[in-house]
Amino acid sequence: MIQVNNISMRYGSFEALKEVSFEAKTKEILGLLGPNGAGKTTLMRILTTYLYPTSGTATIHQRNILKEPEEVRKIIGYLPETAPLYQDMRVDDYLSFVGKSRQIDRAKLRERLEWVKEACGLGLVWKHEIHETSKGYRQRIGLAQALIHDPQVLILDEPTSGLDPLQIIGIRELIRQLAKEKTIIFSTHILPEVEALADRIVIINAGEMIAAGTHAELMSSVRVENNAAKEQKWKKSFSQMSNAMGLEEIFISLLQQHEKERFKRSSV
Ligand SMILES: Nc1ncnc2c1ncn2[C@@H]1O[C@H](COP(=O)(O)OP(=O)(O)OP(=O)(O)O)[C@@H](O)[C@H]1O
Ligand SMILES: [Mg+2]
Repeated sequence: MIQVNNISMRYGSFEALKEVSFEAKTKEILGLLGPNGAGKTTLMRILTTYLYPTSGTATIHQRNILKEPEEVRKIIGYLPETAPLYQDMRVDDYLSFVGKSRQIDRAKLRERLEWVKEACGLGLVWKHEIHETSKGYRQRIGLAQALIHDPQVLILDEPTSGLDPLQIIGIRELIRQLAKEKTIIFSTHILPEVEALADRIVIINAGEMIAAGTHAELMSSVRVENNAAKEQKWKKSFSQMSNAMGLEEIFISLLQQHEKERFKRSSV
């Protein structure tokens, strides 16, 4: 279980996150959805202990990010927005290097290297230097370094960015397989991505969490304006709504509501 409690983050006077709270259950895939600049990367960097929040905290499988950052890092695999690759190293050497720095013993490391080679589809570039590989391969090498120590939790910042449609399907399938035994949080601004993968969705905009829940729960939280321009709860049953409203409409509707509220707040 991952519990995020009232996390706020300021960069100087700019508030990048405002009291964000949500939960991800063990072995669940949580999709963090938000437009550019929403605060997705900031939140992931806080959860992975690379950034210290201004206030609030989180626990990752019972380990507190502020009190036990070393323990948190051990159980997390993190794919940052830009994967930290050493361009002049060969793919196999780089992954071996990451595994050794994670203190995996020799025999286990050999096994894990074979596993990530197969799971991330790296066979064709295994002995190539990283700078020779395509953007899609680099993303997969980034995923492999996040998986090398077989972490319980995966935090993936836009895992399919830069991949072609076939590779996207491959990575989605891998994430689904991994979720059978791992808790996964991934970020995206691509709607079909959360629809295809996430058990639970958290939507953030301008640093504020504006909705959280399953696809069905989000639908019932969306308010639409009726002809008299009066807001009312959307009350149709899930089956009726799923015909009437896709995630794209929900997302846009929630963002529009939130932007209106922010405008009202700033003009008071
Ligand atoms: N180191 C920093 N210093 C100042 N402002 C920052 C810093 N890092 C991020 N920001 C700002 O915080 C806000 C949130 O940024 P963040 O990168 O977390 O968003 P994001 O949701 O990941 O966006 P994207 O979809 O473009 O990756 C943005 O307005 C960004 O400009
Ligand atoms: Mg980002």
